[in-house]
Amino acid sequence: MNDLNPLNNLFPKPREEIINMQSYSAPLENRRNLLRLDFNENTLGPSPRVFEALKAIKLDEISIYPEYNLLKKFLCDRYLDSRKFNKDEIGIFNGADGAINAIFNCFGEKNQIFLSTNPTFGYYSPCSAMRGMKKITCSYIGKNFIFPIEDFKEKIIKYTPKLVFICNPNNPTGTVLSAKEIINLSNLNLDSLIVVDELYEKFYGDSLLESIDFEKNKNIIIIQSLSKTAGLAGLRIGFIFGNKRLIHYINKVTGPYDVNSFAITAALAALSDKSYLDKYVLEVKKAREWIFNKFKSTKIRNHFSGGNYFLIWPNKKPQILIKEMREKGILIRSMENKKDIEDSIRVSIGNKEQMRFFWNNYKQLDLVN
Ligand SMILES: Cc1ncc(COP(=O)(O)O)c(C=O)c1O
Repeated sequence: MNDLNPLNNLFPKPREEIINMQSYSAPLENRRNLLRLDFNENTLGPSPRVFEALKAIKLDEISIYPEYNLLKKFLCDRYLDSRKFNKDEIGIFNGADGAINAIFNCFGEKNQIFLSTNPTFGYYSPCSAMRGMKKITCSYIGKNFIFPIEDFKEKIIKYTPKLVFICNPNNPTGTVLSAKEIINLSNLNLDSLIVVDELYEKFYGDSLLESIDFEKNKNIIIIQSLSKTAGLAGLRIGFIFGNKRLIHYINKVTGPYDVNSFAITAALAALSDKSYLDKYVLEVKKAREWIFNKFKSTKIRNHFSGGNYFLIWPNKKPQILIKEMREKGILIRSMENKKDIEDSIRVSIGNKEQMRFFWNNYKQLDLVN
């Protein structure tokens, strides 16, 4: 590994920010054939229509560059029942992560301020670090992880951050901020871009996307993706919605064919099966209620909120419990690198049967002496 030390002068030196940044690392290998309650993915898989659509792809689709207009049109007219969008208010990306990276590419300037909360989704931080931005954070308040609204407001006014990220509901605390509060925040400083990561909004149900007018609220971008609800995490597809001038610039920093044809085909099939999506979300919400009641009957500290996941502070050392659960075929996620929740474990929520399997094993391993 000494060869990787840029000070050895064995290869051209990367930018200073890249040398100093901490990369995003996650335990993504060897997860097949297990109950995956570690990455908040859909635990049942996509609609059968997705598989049918992928099987029907013609061979020459592989040799042709992807086309995006059909999906864009679908997003404009049918993504939400309650409203429509203009074509130029939408961007299509390689997952929400592709969108996050593009937003930082477009707006992230060296020495400017990036504001977010703590703890939150782990990819924002390396994105800000690689652009040389200065990160400031506000911690969630108390045992229930209340959104630090006053602190956040103060920092927006005081520092005029270039980028403000609000994960809503927040991963991993599930904390939710209302659409109205977000609009209020965006009006505090029109030079700050407010990015609302709504990857888990279906599990709560108060999306800003339903009501926002991008001509009035020009400094807000909303991110959604098909990883967590529609079961397309492996295909990588995500969307942004915002004022057409912002979208124009963000689209400038992405490659012309970044999202592949399989992802587009799968997205169209998944979105056209709305009842499958709605049913999955409903099952998860019911399972959340069920497992919440199980924890309520114990002394184990737990925290449930808006997402398809919850936190527990087990009796055992987290790493031991995680290992033992893996041996039972269940993956859960350590939060050891997350400030304020270092001793906790995050558990994703699947359907009731999957949560029963989790509970029966968890009970044996952590509640019985
Ligand atoms: C809050 C949040 N944003 C973005 C992502 C990345 O999602 P995608 O698979 O769409 O890139 C995740 C994944 O865990 C997430 O939790």
